[in-house]
This record gives sequence, structure tokens and C-alpha cells, in this order.
Amino acid sequence: MTLASTRVSGLSSEVGKAVTVRGWITTVRSSGKVAFLVLRDGTGLLQCVLVKSAVTQDVWDRFAQLSLETSVAVTGDVRADARAPGGYELGVTDLAIVGTSPLDYPIQPKEHGIDFLLDHRHLWLRSPRQRAIATIRSELEQGIQDFFYQRDFLRVDTPILTAAIGERSGLFSTEYFDEGSAYLAQTGQLYGEAAAAAWGKIYTFGPTFRAEKSKTRRHLTEFWMIEPEVAWNDSNDNMKLQEQFVSYLVQRALEKRSAELTELERDLTKLEGIKPPFPRLEYTEAIDILHRKGSTTPWGDDLGAEDESLIVADYDLPVFVMNYPKEAKAFYMKENPADPRTVLCDDLLAPEGYGEMIGGSQREDDYDRLLKRIIEEGLDPAAYEWYLDLRRYGTFVHAGFGLGLERTIAWICGLPHLREAIAFPRMMHRLRP
Ligand code: 4AD
Ligand code: MG
Repeated sequence: MTLASTRVSGLSSEVGKAVTVRGWITTVRSSGKVAFLVLRDGTGLLQCVLVKSAVTQDVWDRFAQLSLETSVAVTGDVRADARAPGGYELGVTDLAIVGTSPLDYPIQPKEHGIDFLLDHRHLWLRSPRQRAIATIRSELEQGIQDFFYQRDFLRVDTPILTAAIGERSGLFSTEYFDEGSAYLAQTGQLYGEAAAAAWGKIYTFGPTFRAEKSKTRRHLTEFWMIEPEVAWNDSNDNMKLQEQFVSYLVQRALEKRSAELTELERDLTKLEGIKPPFPRLEYTEAIDILHRKGSTTPWGDDLGAEDESLIVADYDLPVFVMNYPKEAKAFYMKENPADPRTVLCDDLLAPEGYGEMIGGSQREDDYDRLLKRIIEEGLDPAAYEWYLDLRRYGTFVHAGFGLGLERTIAWICGLPHLREAIAFPRMMHRLRP
């Protein structure tokens, strides 16, 4: 008789029953009469106990062939056992080897260097730490969709192959038939604005690409971005949406994935207080604070990573820095009527030095000013004809922002580097596996 297979996470409803669990071996030990194996199936760990006198000689012999990462199907009775990892144990009646694993499995229970681990990322994903991070990432991705669905936003999937440039950072380009160069999207925003004029409240959620030659802890060449765009929102509404969104994601992780956060040794008290409102600083105010703290960044420059850390050091919440000088930011941001040297925008800086998590702005909705900015930036107005149409035909106040998923995950999980926040990171020197 073959039994329906059960995942480790589903064992609580199987106590007292016989089940088959399939997974990969993490540890084995034997006293000669009683043997233990622990298997991992992606949902948890399960200790399985073999009593020599209670199983066939075949089963007992198979146990001796197990090695790290051998894949197996184990059949037995489920028992509650508070001492076992996960709280359940399997009293084994049968054991089948599905796939053997030679003794040279590259990742052993010892310290490995980061390059070695990244070269073996396809196997490194099997570790408990990587499972915890992936689980939190998946929870947040679901949370993102729930947050916007509950608020009546449409999800819009924007193209990855594009002709127009969105941000100033480096571009990946490729030949596109007879059409010239196509660029991998740096942002979905420009398309998001067209969708907002069509459908009101929208968000995009997809991969974005930056050919940045920066080898920092905070940069990937491929990262995922969530970009809401809302008709009739001004910059103030935009920041309100940002603080609600970020707070929702943090509380969702705490509520649903505290076990995984604990596995990562994250200090939960640092996350529990993340609730609106978040402090707001004008850019000019931020520069004054930075100068008092010894920074030499001149008025007019974007803030560097060190500046961001100096600013957030005074707070336990994410901090908005708003209304940057025009020259520090992208062409599409709306001129600030109160100070035309600046634009109506905000960067949301994560606590604990995790850096800029969101960039957002109210968009320039005046046709002439937008065209002027496009020309000033040295962009080709012809490539932006369709984007200018949004100002030509029924222009509208609107605002939006982009949240970098990996930076958000790194902060929530307490990861020192973005490379662990995505299954297969793409960085300047990393294209494989
Ligand atoms: O500030 P950025 O460049 O803004 C935009 O792309 C706008 N079009 C967003 C919008 O208004 N719709 O990027 C937004 C966020 C950053 O705050 C950061 O979290 C993340 O994207 N980000 C990166 N994450 C990882 N690696 C990189 N190289 C990143 N560049 C930006
Ligand atoms: Mg930015």
C-alpha cells in the first residue's frame, strides 16, 4: 500500500497516523540498535527514529547508505515529541532511497567563504537560513499584492524591453531587430503613469535592471521593484501611502513569519514599533544636520550612503528626506512651487543604516516644464512623445514611488548584504549560477 505523502509542516494533523514524508538527509547517527535521521523537506525538519528490532534488515542496511543530501521517502508513525526539532517525530517502518548523494557534497557543516557559497548558490539555498529568508520574501510578495488589492489598485505588468530611459543610472542594452537598441527597464514608472491616467490607482511589480558598476552591499544589477502610481495624489498623499505600505509589510512579517525572523536572529523589538507616521525632513534641513555631524556633502548633491546612515541614526523609524534639489533627481519630478530650486519628492531611508528603501515623487504635470526638463537632461524628446501625451491630453496631478524589494527584505531580515535577499543574485561580477 502506498501512503499519501505529507509535508513536514502538515504533521500536526497526522499524529497517531502512518505517513510517508519525502525530503533530503541533513544528519544521521546510530547507536547500533537505534538510529536517527533528520530530513529537511523545505517546510521544516523531521527527526525519524529506526529501531533495529522493529524494521527489516533491508531497511536497516539502507540507513547505513545515507549521506548528507541523499533524497529519501520515509514511512512511519507520527508522534508528538517536544524534544524533536519541529515538535514531531516519525517512528520508521520503511525507508526508500530516491537519489544518492556522493560524500563530496560541496557545502559541509563548517565555515565557507562568501565566494564559495555564491558559486554554489544552487545548493546553498538548502540551508535553514536561506529557507527562512526565502519564506519571508514570499510572505512579503504576497503582502504586497494583498495591500494593493485591499485598496482597489490594479496591478499592471509593464515591459522589460523598452526604448525610453527612466532613471539616470546605467543601462543594459540589446539589439532589437530593425528598431535599434532596446534597454532593459530601469523602472516601470513611465508606463505606470500612462496606466494611472487610464485606470486611476495602479502598481507595477517586476524586475528592474541597472548597469551600475557599484560593488556595494546595497546594489544589485537586477532587483525587484514595486511602483504604485496614483491619479490625484500629491506628494503629501504619496508619503502617507508609503508609510502605510512599509508599516503593513513589517507588521505582516512579524505576524506571519516571526519563527523565520527568529531563525535569522533578528531583533524583533526593532521592528515592532514600525508604524506611521514616519519623521519627515526637508532636504535643506537634512544637509544642515549632516554638516553639524561632519559631512561635507554640498547643498545640491544627492545624499551618499554615509549621509543616509548619519540621518537615520537619530531615529527608530524610517525617515523621509523630501524636496531635493532639481539637479540631484530625475527629470520627471514636479517643480516645488514653494522653492523652484527643488522638486516635490522623497527618499525613504530605512532604519539601522539600511539605506534608501523608496524613491518617490509627485510628477511634473505641466507640458512645457516637462519638455524643458527632458531637453535639459539631454534626452531625446521624440522618444518621450508618448509620455508627453499624458500631459497633452487631460493632464492630472499624480504621484508614485518605487520600493526596492531586496533592500526592504535586507532591512526586515537584518541581512548585511542584498545578495542573500534574492535566490540568484545578479551583481557586477556575478552572472552564475
Ligand atoms: O530611487 P529609484 O531609482 O526610483 C525609481 O526608479 C523611480 N522610477 C521610482 C518611482 O517613483 N516609481 O529606485 C527606487 C528604489 C530605491 O529606493 C531602492 O530601494 C531600489 O529601488 N534600488 C535598488 N535596489 C537594489 N539595487 C539597485 N541597484 C537599486 N537601485 C534602486
Ligand atoms: Mg533613488
